[in-house]
Amino acid sequence: MDIFEHIAALQNEINETTFSSADDAEKFRIRFLGTKNILKDIFGEIKNVPNERKKEFGQVVNAVKQAAEEKHALAKEKFEATNSFTNKDIDLTLPGDVVTIGARHPIQLVKNQIVDIFKRLGFAVQEDREIEDDWHNFTALNMPEDHPARDMQDTFFVNINPDIVLRTHTSSVQVRTMENQKPPIRILSPGRVFRNETISARAHCFFHQVEGLYIDENVSFADLLQTLDFFVKEMFGQDVKIKLRPSYFPFTEPSAEVDVTCFICGGKGCNVCKYTGWVEILGCGMVDPKVLENCNIDPKKYSGFAFGMGIERITMLKYQIKDLRLFSENDVRFLEQFKSVL
Ligand code: PHE
Repeated sequence: MDIFEHIAALQNEINETTFSSADDAEKFRIRFLGTKNILKDIFGEIKNVPNERKKEFGQVVNAVKQAAEEKHALAKEKFEATNSFTNKDIDLTLPGDVVTIGARHPIQLVKNQIVDIFKRLGFAVQEDREIEDDWHNFTALNMPEDHPARDMQDTFFVNINPDIVLRTHTSSVQVRTMENQKPPIRILSPGRVFRNETISARAHCFFHQVEGLYIDENVSFADLLQTLDFFVKEMFGQDVKIKLRPSYFPFTEPSAEVDVTCFICGGKGCNVCKYTGWVEILGCGMVDPKVLENCNIDPKKYSGFAFGMGIERITMLKYQIKDLRLFSENDVRFLEQFKSVL
């Protein structure tokens, strides 16, 4: 058979092919249009075609290729259509399955709210490790070994190595950031922390904190106050007032604890504020010059403030949750209640 007859036979084969399944169409595609298709072999024969017929040869091979493409396109359309909604087994009038949408965990929700508020003041999120060394969790924060303030945070040690701990607070991220960045520094560090406490309605062996840190030239206590006042009003409402009580943290001087007027009873007294009209929400202070020095920041040139709050505590106050254990029990009946909160 000469090559022109061979081509004519292929053209014939294409014209006469019928498809009864998607499989047939695929076999056809592989034979005529696949990477090693028969038309490529035929085209290779061009070297044996006399010069005066080369043009004609090209034209007929191309015509066959085009016919194959058209035939395959029609077959594809046909089988794709039967695979979809024309299938008689599908009753489109039946109601669909209900898809239950999950909800964000309340701790995550409140963390996002806190981060959003401070972002508007220019604070960037900075996260770091949960397994820390002694220096970043304690010593650099002005709590050398044997310092009694270490007892404030009952610590988990890792692998009997007394130098490695599960961080007891997110203040460790302050130290890491100050060691690695030059002022101005304005960061917010949310994260999980661990303390060796007996689990109860009010304490857990792990919980979440958000730490804030601002270091620059001339940062004052008034800046701290203004920042916290803005946060509290955005978080709990514009009528809420703040009050600072002198306190002690080894890494800040002066230090304070911040109370807000009870946003449940408006300050009249209720069981959330234990009839005092105030609820405590966070700890704060001016970063101790010794801490700046430990992190190679010149305390004569720079000053700054830091604050830290427990996300569980804020969440419990905001949504009036009475038991801390609910946050880690994964009870859908509890979690579902936060579906509508964005
Ligand atoms: N790290 C402190 C704690 O866990 C909170 C705090 C942070 C206080 C920053 C002052 C400044 O109790």
